[in-house]
Amino acid sequence: MNSIRPITDPSRPKVYIETYGCQMNVNDSEVILSILQDAGYALTDDIEEASVILANTCSIRDNAEQRIWGRIDQFKLQKRKRSGVVIGIVGCMAERLKDKLLENVDLVAGPDAYRSLPDLLKAITPERPQINVLLSHEETYADISPVRMDRNGISGFISIMRGCNNVCSYCIVPYTRGAERSRDPYTIVKEAQTLFDNGYKEVTLLGQNVDSYYWKDPQKADRNVNFAQLLEMVAKISPELRVRFSTSHPKDISDEVIYTMAMYENICKHIHLPVQSGSSIMLEKMRRKYNREWYLERVDKIRSVIPDCGITTDVIAGFSGETDQDHEDTMTLMEKVVFDSAFMFAYSERPGTLASRKYPDDIPYELKTQRLNEIIALQGRMSLKSNEKEIGKTLKVLVEGPSKKNPDELCGRASNNKMCVFPSRGEKAGDYCTVEVVSVTSATLICKRTE
Ligand code: SAH
Ligand code: SF4
Ligand code: F3S
Repeated sequence: MNSIRPITDPSRPKVYIETYGCQMNVNDSEVILSILQDAGYALTDDIEEASVILANTCSIRDNAEQRIWGRIDQFKLQKRKRSGVVIGIVGCMAERLKDKLLENVDLVAGPDAYRSLPDLLKAITPERPQINVLLSHEETYADISPVRMDRNGISGFISIMRGCNNVCSYCIVPYTRGAERSRDPYTIVKEAQTLFDNGYKEVTLLGQNVDSYYWKDPQKADRNVNFAQLLEMVAKISPELRVRFSTSHPKDISDEVIYTMAMYENICKHIHLPVQSGSSIMLEKMRRKYNREWYLERVDKIRSVIPDCGITTDVIAGFSGETDQDHEDTMTLMEKVVFDSAFMFAYSERPGTLASRKYPDDIPYELKTQRLNEIIALQGRMSLKSNEKEIGKTLKVLVEGPSKKNPDELCGRASNNKMCVFPSRGEKAGDYCTVEVVSVTSATLICKRTE
């Protein structure tokens, strides 16, 4: 039986892991550590003592990859200082660039190849770097208990599916992560239960498109499980265990999921619903399979069932052929919805995607940046507006720890995912506190204690 926290054993060879990209990569690094611990390694957070240095990488935008190239140069310095050090690139960039990385590192392993890491490590010699970038239709690492690397032991990620079957024209993920597959729900519930038994208070169920989660029971078709049913199974573990999930796809989020959220107090009232663009013309070209009206209808539905639901989004500025009008459509959609927060990006063409083959990356850098800045400025105003609506409300917050600015205050998130700061009464991470919002910034709710 694996331990859920990293083991410390000075006699073991040390592995150092840096993680880039999305939450799925954070969880994958925990799977990798589990596999490597079983093979006799122990985690270190000091690169100077590591015999294996891994970067779990992201290819989503060009700047994500540029960052990794910078890190590889740093890792190589370690190799020069100490003989026998092994450098490995794993994850999405490994999958995308494959043997092109081998000139620079000793090990390249894609997202479905982590079980082979111990064998690959054994086989490495200075002359023979090792690579495994096979993608799988089945691998979900369902039987592997991730070794948790989060700081406070309160909130854990659980991957419920891997890969993606959508072909959003701008996106590299289907090429780096392969086809979509759903994980056995009973292993998911078991993992959530283990976290809860170990003091965790929050789990986040992860997938590129959680709404298309669908597990077919190999024995009995009437035991198939969809995402709404999975949410309910996890929510039933304990009312003290919060359940979050990410990412929802506007084309697939079902009424059943929304009603299930409403039914369970411990399913957090927050949906990350990436819109990408407010222009139906752009959405069509992006192959998102919904339009502006569909998106707005889904938001209305969510708010009619769960009035206080937090809604956050992702936006891409400057996709191929984006006109001033398309950009304006994104801005007006953002004003209409008033997202709580957003991740906002300039379009980055990814080699091999449909967009890179069909649509020129024709918005000049300056214009892309200008539009992105307008979007960021608008979202700042919208975040403030959305937070102002919370003033006077009573919220239940899961304490994450002392506030960064003031050690006499605590911080933590409300169900809607908004960050709250409030005076401490000696509670610790993992406790629930009830607070009342007194003032806000665009990023934080400043709260007082209720009696
Ligand atoms: N599966 C999720 C998103 C995963 S990628 C979904 O479908 O929404 C996270 C975000 O990165 C995307 O929502 C998108 O906004 C952004 N992104 C993806 N590819 C991009 C690209 N080529 N350029 C800029 N941003 C991109
Ligand atoms: Fe990429 Fe689209 Fe899949 Fe999200 S749903 S990972 S944006 S292809
Ligand atoms: Fe990046 Fe791969 Fe995640 S490309 S966003 S690490 S799925």
